[in-house]
Amino acid sequence: MSGQDEVVGLFPTPVMRAPGVLPPALVDALVTHFSAQALQPNNSSDALSHTRMLQPSDSPLLVEAAALITPKIAEFGRHLFGETLGWAIKEMWVNVLDTGGRQSMHNHANSFASGVVYLTETHDSARTVFMKSPGGNDFSLKNDHAGVVTGPYNAEKWVSPSPSPGDLMLFPSYLMHAVPPNAGERRITLALNAIPTRLDSWGYSLSFNG
Ligand SMILES: [Fe+2]
Repeated sequence: MSGQDEVVGLFPTPVMRAPGVLPPALVDALVTHFSAQALQPNNSSDALSHTRMLQPSDSPLLVEAAALITPKIAEFGRHLFGETLGWAIKEMWVNVLDTGGRQSMHNHANSFASGVVYLTETHDSARTVFMKSPGGNDFSLKNDHAGVVTGPYNAEKWVSPSPSPGDLMLFPSYLMHAVPPNAGERRITLALNAIPTRLDSWGYSLSFNG
């Protein structure tokens, strides 16, 4: 008698969605306070701008946001490192994406966990998209046509579900992501990078301070 066939999903990438992490009053206050400070242009699009890099200490609103977000990062970090570590948000910034704006594919350097809190409604066209890292510089072989069924093993991208204001999404900082052209209203997000205080590999340890 033979056993049941089994497909094992090896080494999956954690992406964590935490709905309603910031309450509506704080979301509104962040939008009011920071959207006027998003004056730095972005190379990807004329319709995308952001604030300078901010520290929680730059505003009591960010202190409040960080206090609500950091426990979620610690929970997410258990999946990355197998332990509840101390975590610190080392920078936050606010992105203002007007109609027609987009953000090209990128990841976040010098960081372990990254996140985005949606501060406004997000039009379906401008949901965050996560991608597999593009391969090398060699010929590319694909089976890609109308008859192909896309699943977790052959997909090259994942369009995240529609978020609501106040929702947080956390992902490993190495993971490629982008925002396709926004066909809807102005979309505002609070982005962040976080690091664990210490990583230890059998006594070989690294300490970080943001
Ligand atoms: Fe990003």
